[in-house]
Amino acid sequence: MNIVVLAGGLSTERDVSFITGNEVAKALRENGHRVILLDVFMGYDEKEVNVDDIFDKADEVSVKVSKIPETAPDLEAVKASRKDQSDCFFGPNVIRICQKSDIVFMALHGENGENGKIQAAFDLFGIKYTGSDYLSSAIAMDKNMSKKFFVNANIPTPNGVSMTRENRCDDHKKLGLNLPCVVKPCCGGSSIGVTIVRNDEEFTKALDDAFKWENELVIEEFVEGREFSVGVLSGKALPIIEIAPVEGFYDYKNKYKAGSTIETCPAELSIEKTKEMQKYAEMVAEAIGLNTYSRSDFLLDKEGNIFCLEVNTLPGMTPTSLLPQEANAVGVNFNELCEKLIEISLK
Ligand code: DAL
Ligand code: MG
Repeated sequence: MNIVVLAGGLSTERDVSFITGNEVAKALRENGHRVILLDVFMGYDEKEVNVDDIFDKADEVSVKVSKIPETAPDLEAVKASRKDQSDCFFGPNVIRICQKSDIVFMALHGENGENGKIQAAFDLFGIKYTGSDYLSSAIAMDKNMSKKFFVNANIPTPNGVSMTRENRCDDHKKLGLNLPCVVKPCCGGSSIGVTIVRNDEEFTKALDDAFKWENELVIEEFVEGREFSVGVLSGKALPIIEIAPVEGFYDYKNKYKAGSTIETCPAELSIEKTKEMQKYAEMVAEAIGLNTYSRSDFLLDKEGNIFCLEVNTLPGMTPTSLLPQEANAVGVNFNELCEKLIEISLK
């Protein structure tokens, strides 16, 4: 097949997305496909490009990826570096190149990629893509919205409230929330802008930090416990992975710096708890309509209560990512997983 692996973009997870894209592109090439790794925002800036034979020039057109920086990218600098300074989100020739592919493998994370907008545009352009459709992507990306779906489907989730810049309130008691609590940008990923707050002073600082990234936040009661993640492929849960950062919580650094988190798959849980958590992951996929693949994140407190934190519609596929490890536990290696994601998305 001729496949575009689409990565980059303008989200806080731009750099993570390149690492996902690079791994996926490598695997798909090894599987015998012709692959272009394309940055959705930078595009392929050749004015008179003839896209008819673009896959013959796949190497030349593809982005070359280096290693992931330790902090989130400077998006203003990325914007300023695009030669084409138009307001179009898609970089030069992206749509034309994607239209020449058999399918676009979505290696994007975060805003405009995981939030359904590109999926909606692709539907209108007649471009096939991997993963969820625009509506379920949009619901899953918005942590306040997806919480409503969890509650509605009886999937346990921490108590939480939404806060916008306009209705900012620095008094957590007025919000009906006890400390410790967790402040998160509503539509972010990779824990960027997330703070665990243990006192009043930290609360104000956490709001300031999170509002740097987004205009809407979700503020949840903190659940002390073990952290897990469960991938779901075509409605069926994979083995559970437990995530235990060596230091601090599972933040950006601990997510992408090899060796900074101990990951155990299958997780050491009783058969009952394993089944319960897997059931919740399948219920999340069902409730939101994520019928290709997804990965839900959970906490388990000391009393044995499970809480769903969020669901990711385009989970990371970097060397330290969780979904590939879970698939591996059932004998599906990385190259086979990439192939499978294409197969289920084309159904
Ligand atoms: N948001 C990151 C990429 C993940 O869920 O794996
Ligand atoms: Mg996420």
